[in-house]
Amino acid sequence: MNSDEPIVERPLKPESTVMIVGASMGFGAALAAAAASRGFHLALLSRQQSRLEELAQDLRRQHGVKVFTYQHDVKDFQQAPTLLQAAARDLGSLDFFIYNAGLMYQQGANRFYPEEEVETIQVNLAGAAAWLMPVADRFVRAGQGHLVAVGSIAGERGRAGLPAYAASKAGLHTYMEALRNRVSRHGVVVTTLKPGQMETSMLERTDKIRGPIAVERAAELAWRAILRGKQVAYIPARWWLVGLIVRNIPSFIFRRMSL
Ligand SMILES: NC(=O)c1ccc[n+]([C@@H]2O[C@H](COP(=O)([O-])OP(=O)(O)OC[C@H]3O[C@@H](n4cnc5c(N)ncnc54)[C@H](OP(=O)(O)O)[C@@H]3O)[C@@H](O)[C@H]2O)c1
Repeated sequence: MNSDEPIVERPLKPESTVMIVGASMGFGAALAAAAASRGFHLALLSRQQSRLEELAQDLRRQHGVKVFTYQHDVKDFQQAPTLLQAAARDLGSLDFFIYNAGLMYQQGANRFYPEEEVETIQVNLAGAAAWLMPVADRFVRAGQGHLVAVGSIAGERGRAGLPAYAASKAGLHTYMEALRNRVSRHGVVVTTLKPGQMETSMLERTDKIRGPIAVERAAELAWRAILRGKQVAYIPARWWLVGLIVRNIPSFIFRRMSL
């Protein structure tokens, strides 16, 4: 355990509470909207405070839920425990925590920019660890709670065009598996979401577009998987088969494929 303070939380209730890191746009905003439509109260974090507040106002007006917003750059790793305490205090409890923040620079096999690689790993993996550890600690103490992280089908193999992105998502998948193995005996559920392509601004930086789905549909599928307590969910499910095939292509063939 990290902290000496005992933390007491209420049991899961009809009015659940959700914290989403990386919620200002795209999949994170859609996850927030799908949660609000279920009557869940929200704490939303990311760098673009004005976008967060705009989204919060819409969700309060449309669904009558409580929505709190906090400006945060996930690269400020040391802020996570303080913001976690603040959000849980404002919400009154915390049932679901979703790490969605993600960064992907323009793909390309001829890009050699170490700053982009390091930042991608900071946002997609190190930031996740900085958040998931204190939240897991809190949930274990409470004997309940649900941790969710957004990985990617891209984490299944090392593609030439996106080494840091693929590695960060593969690392996140493994991190979540380890966390599940650590906390599930304490009543904490851990779900890894692995979306295929979704129609968000991130797709603009992709070299190949393959059957993307609307982000609202992806968020709905994600919440269904979360509420069923799934350990790993491909979004949509057909990417499970793609993942299986891609994982089993021998390296010498994979290297020659234009994936
Ligand atoms: N779109 C796809 O096809 C696809 C496929 C598979 C997986 N994913 C994953 O899905 C997640 C959401 O991606 P998206 O497509 O919705 O991308 P997006 O539209 O670019 O949104 C990314 C979100 O992450 C937040 N974020 C980025 N850097 C951050 C930082 N340093 N600190 C705090 N928040 C940060 C952004 O908020 P601010 O800018 O306000 O900070 C934004 O809310 C990511 O983890 C991504 O890897 C996406």
